[in-house]
Amino acid sequence: MNFQKIAIGVTGVALFLSLAACAGDPVDKETPGGEVSTEEGYNLVPADTNGDGLITLGFAQVGAESGWRTANTDSFKSYFVPENGYELVFADANQDADKQKQDVRDLIAQGVEVINLAPVTDSGWVPILEEAKAAGIPLIVSDRQLMVDENLYLTYFGGDMEGEGKTAVKWLKDYIDAGAIADDINIVHLQGTIGSTAQKGRTKALDDAAPGYSWNIVAQQTGEFTRAKGQEVMESIIQQGLDFNVIYSENDDMTYGAIDALKAAGIDHKEKIIISFDGNKSAVQMVVDGDIDVIAECDPLLGPQIGGLIQDAMAGKKIAKITYSVEGFIDSTNAAEKLLTAFGS
Ligand code: AHR
Repeated sequence: MNFQKIAIGVTGVALFLSLAACAGDPVDKETPGGEVSTEEGYNLVPADTNGDGLITLGFAQVGAESGWRTANTDSFKSYFVPENGYELVFADANQDADKQKQDVRDLIAQGVEVINLAPVTDSGWVPILEEAKAAGIPLIVSDRQLMVDENLYLTYFGGDMEGEGKTAVKWLKDYIDAGAIADDINIVHLQGTIGSTAQKGRTKALDDAAPGYSWNIVAQQTGEFTRAKGQEVMESIIQQGLDFNVIYSENDDMTYGAIDALKAAGIDHKEKIIISFDGNKSAVQMVVDGDIDVIAECDPLLGPQIGGLIQDAMAGKKIAKITYSVEGFIDSTNAAEKLLTAFGS
């Protein structure tokens, strides 16, 4: 079942931003590399412990599954260079949560001076973080969060994944209201990597909202944040003959794959409401062209921002335990402008 989609103007859907939010208590420190008491019980800050003039940062990265991930990796590789006072040791987990735990253990064994962990999934980390702490290596969590006590890491910097989901859900509700759409809302939900906070937060926002608005989630399946898997899942949904008019896809790459599948099946994707996450340049162009209706932003350009936190910590400044990126949404009202600064290709 399809329905008449509406053209939206600035007043059609309320513009709102989930502004940067800082939560948790600040980390106190006295001297770089020194032992200090904090309310959270975390007392490590980065320091040039081997005196070679560079901070060696070990980066335990998720993989290379998406355009967002490529931009995130590039952001770290271009910032953490000797010219900025760093040496980067890069470990690619290839989306394998078990391999990534070994990657972190290897970084600890190598004696890096700080670890930046972008976790594939959020569980099973306590013993590894305890090992890093026991080894005196400060650990920063970025991009996705962990289910661990705050006394096991220095700081988190990255997206508020549930907040992003709420942004997308609110946009859909406003869109339906603005268009006085009375049709049943039948949603195909393409999930990211199960067990990642990027998936859990974005899924929770939809799961929490759907019953209250009488929206039906007719399919809910992981596409593992990849274009190929997104296409495969959408092909299977089409083959099952499921009736849907909304796609809630937890990243741009799965959205591209889903649109590929719809086109191949001769289905006009522009008759569906397509909701995506991230904000790659090509996806933003697709919003301009009317292929995608809205993207909830997720900022991958974290390298310099993590670098700033490290510098602040080393300078003895207080840093927040949790800092969320500044993120909003991209729809037809602002896509042309957003295209000018969009990341990636
Ligand atoms: O954790 C961020 C998510 O991971 C991005 O939304 C997705 O594209 C990536 O794979």
